[in-house]
This record gives sequence, C-alpha cells and structure tokens, in this order.
Amino acid sequence: MKIFIDTADIKEIKEIASWGVLDGVTTNPTLIARAGLGFKETINEICKIVNGPISVEVTSTDAEGMIKEARKLAKIHPNIIIKIPITPDGLKATKRLSKEGITINMTLVFSANQALLAAKAGAGYVSPFIGRLDDIGNEGMQVVRDIAQIFKQNGVKTKLLVASIRHPIHVIEAAKLGADVATIPPPVIRKMVTHPLTSKGIEKFLEDWKRVPKK
Ligand code: G3P
Repeated sequence: MKIFIDTADIKEIKEIASWGVLDGVTTNPTLIARAGLGFKETINEICKIVNGPISVEVTSTDAEGMIKEARKLAKIHPNIIIKIPITPDGLKATKRLSKEGITINMTLVFSANQALLAAKAGAGYVSPFIGRLDDIGNEGMQVVRDIAQIFKQNGVKTKLLVASIRHPIHVIEAAKLGADVATIPPPVIRKMVTHPLTSKGIEKFLEDWKRVPKK
C-alpha cells in the first residue's frame, strides 16, 4: 500500500518526506487554507518536495468549469492529479478529462455505488472518506471493504485511496483490505512511527551502554 500525506503544510511534508516513506500528497481547499500560504506557492513547493502523485482539487461545481480548472492545474506539474467531487457534473468532467490523459482522483466518496460510478467514468483513484462516515455513526471501513471486493471481482483498474483517516488502526485496516493508497494526516503518521516500548528500549540500551568500558 502506498502512503500519501494528507496535508498542505510544507514543513510537515518536508519532514516526513525526509523519512523516506512518502509516495504522494493529497490536498483539498480546507488543507490549503489551513496551511496559510498562497495556492500556487503551496502547490509549487509540494511538487519540489515529493516526486509522486499530488492531488489538487477543483472548486468549480459545473462540468465545464471543472474541466477548465483541471486542464490549467494539470499543466503546473506532470505529477498533479485532479481531485473532483462525485456529482453528476463531476462524473461528466471525469469522463472528458480522463480521455485527455488527465488522472482524476474522485473525492468525497461515501458509498460503494459512488465508487462504482467514478470507476465507470474513468477516475484513476477513488477516495472514500472513512473518518467522516465514522463521525456520523456509520462504519467507514465497511465502504472500503465493499469497494475493494467490487473492484477485485470486476477487474476494475481504478485505485482505491482511503482518505479521511483518523488514527493508526484505520491505516492497518486499509492495508489489510488491500487498498492501493492510504492518505494520512501528519499526526497519524507520527503515531504510526512511535511505540512506548521502542522509546523505553532505546533508553535502556543507552543507559546500559554507559557501563560498557569503551576499549
Ligand atoms: O483529503 C481529504 C480527506 O482526507 C479529508 O479528511 O479529516 O477532513 O475528514 P478529513
């Protein structure tokens, strides 16, 4: 399973990319606004740091507007893939853009039916938002399970990208279900790397090492 970072925070992307574990980046308008820099500046910086798919979202709601925006964004860098929300207009735009060779990440997916339609329209990725489903009392991971099974049984080539991840168990479950990608916020990636027994173990080794004569 590939690991994407779900943020537009340049400092965080730089730091976690330096660990050698990042395959790509996903952004959305909320994450760009939170990062506090200009849109183009942010995207250009991200493209310099990570050599992998970088999702950038359109903000038009009509198919023609989405297509125009997507073509412009795709020109920024060859690694840019376009995030489009799953709506009838989003599907129309996906169909046209994927035919032009622009990769679409169909976003705001909350059901297997939406994923199926996204795949039909030619999306390269579908992004089920599992945390937001959990937040309203549904089981987000069940949607991932359904999509994984449907895609496998029907030989669908669209990649399953698990988004809206809230904690490390989401990551493990996504990997166990054979998701192609998990996009993970920086705090969750940090939780994945730490374990109290690792810290305790290092402390003990360093303590014991002090008693070893260095000759
Ligand atoms: O890429 C966006 C997606 O992961 C949203 O996450 O935490 O806003 O539900 P969240």
